[in-house]
Amino acid sequence: MGKSPTCELLYDWGTTNCTVADLVDLLIRNQFLAPASLLLPEAVRMPQEVTLPLSSQETLPIHVKQLPVQEKEVASVMPVLAQSTEKQHSHSSSLSEENSSSHSGNTDFQNFLFHDLESITNNFDARPESAGGNKLGEGGFGIVFKGYINGKNVAVKKLIAMVDVSVQDLKQQFEQEINLMAKCQHENLVELLGFSSDGAQPCLVYEYMPNGSLLDRLACLDETPPIPWNMRCKIVQGTANGINFLHENNHIHRDIKSANILLTDTYVPKISDFGLARASVTFTQTIMTERIVGTAAYMAPEALRGEITPKSDIFSFGVVLLEIITGLPPVDENREPQLLLSIKDVIEDEEATIEDYVDKKMSDWDVPSIHKMYSIADRCLNDKKTRRPDIKMVQQQLQEIKT
Ligand SMILES: Nc1ncnc2c1ncn2[C@@H]1O[C@H](COP(=O)(O)OP(=O)(O)OP(=O)(O)O)[C@@H](O)[C@H]1O
Ligand SMILES: [Mg+2]
Repeated sequence: MGKSPTCELLYDWGTTNCTVADLVDLLIRNQFLAPASLLLPEAVRMPQEVTLPLSSQETLPIHVKQLPVQEKEVASVMPVLAQSTEKQHSHSSSLSEENSSSHSGNTDFQNFLFHDLESITNNFDARPESAGGNKLGEGGFGIVFKGYINGKNVAVKKLIAMVDVSVQDLKQQFEQEINLMAKCQHENLVELLGFSSDGAQPCLVYEYMPNGSLLDRLACLDETPPIPWNMRCKIVQGTANGINFLHENNHIHRDIKSANILLTDTYVPKISDFGLARASVTFTQTIMTERIVGTAAYMAPEALRGEITPKSDIFSFGVVLLEIITGLPPVDENREPQLLLSIKDVIEDEEATIEDYVDKKMSDWDVPSIHKMYSIADRCLNDKKTRRPDIKMVQQQLQEIKT
């Protein structure tokens, strides 16, 4: 379209994170170091290693906020990843040391060749597995394929080509974000094993999650058995632990939903696509309505207005809690109310109780624990973000549900 880089930059800033710190961040990322240092002199130390002052505001870009607790005042903005086939080593300092289940050590994050991903996914065979293909699923960003590499199954997300976005722009954006994602390691986060950006489309390679998404398992897709209440409680507790890890590291997910909660062979939940929402700001401006509708079912009022705060993740998690209790999808055009979160109003108006909505496919539920979980969901779904609990409180309250 031939828009000037300045216009694009200002557009990005104006439509996403709009603080001065965000503008400085954008300027630095685009190598406009002089104006960045004019705005925040201490922000630019060296051309290679730039630093930004830490602020506690919620809307800071995630890679600025992913700070080592010890190094309070400065954060390095990592240079764009080198195009090499060598293993990348993660930057350990950005992870919370407290969390025992997180590793801050080196990871084997790999830069894969597109050609290799092609061959492990049978040329990105888009037929479903049941028909002998490799397709695991499909979302707003592209198709996910199953592959086998280095002795294990992996999931390869091939990002769709967008009309308005140049491959070059995408690659640059992704290389910055995946660098960050690679650092996020926790037992309740899907591990990003590597990526590829040398082919026609960028790809992300994740650990394979044999039980697919929570959304599909709650719907018993492919005739999988209903998840018992006891296990549902553990799933939401694990998910809250994953969100806590992200929030502790000043990372806002922005797309918490049951489709992004994947399950291991033993139904341990792992959150996926953290970082993608931000990496694909350009995507989301042009994305299909279907995706917007799907995601809107989880979105807090302030998130719909474009504000980015960890409290929006809490709101979305509230919708997931409703899904866990009811087994219902977050949105259904043939249902009244269409949005699952609206059952809160129905219950408030005393037209029904939460017990009426309990998923009849479970047999091991009990009234007190359903009430406890609903009461947490209710608080998470407060329209006023300041009245919502933070993730630590949610974790605590979920722990109190004994089944
Ligand atoms: N690591 C994985 N292991 C196994 N299956 C996966 C993995 N990642 C994704 N899938 C499958 O692919 C489907 C599509 O995932 P994808 O993230 O592309 O879409 P989504 O989560 O529905 O929407 P969005 O694009 O907003 O994230 C998932 O629902 C899941 O079934
Ligand atoms: Mg997803």
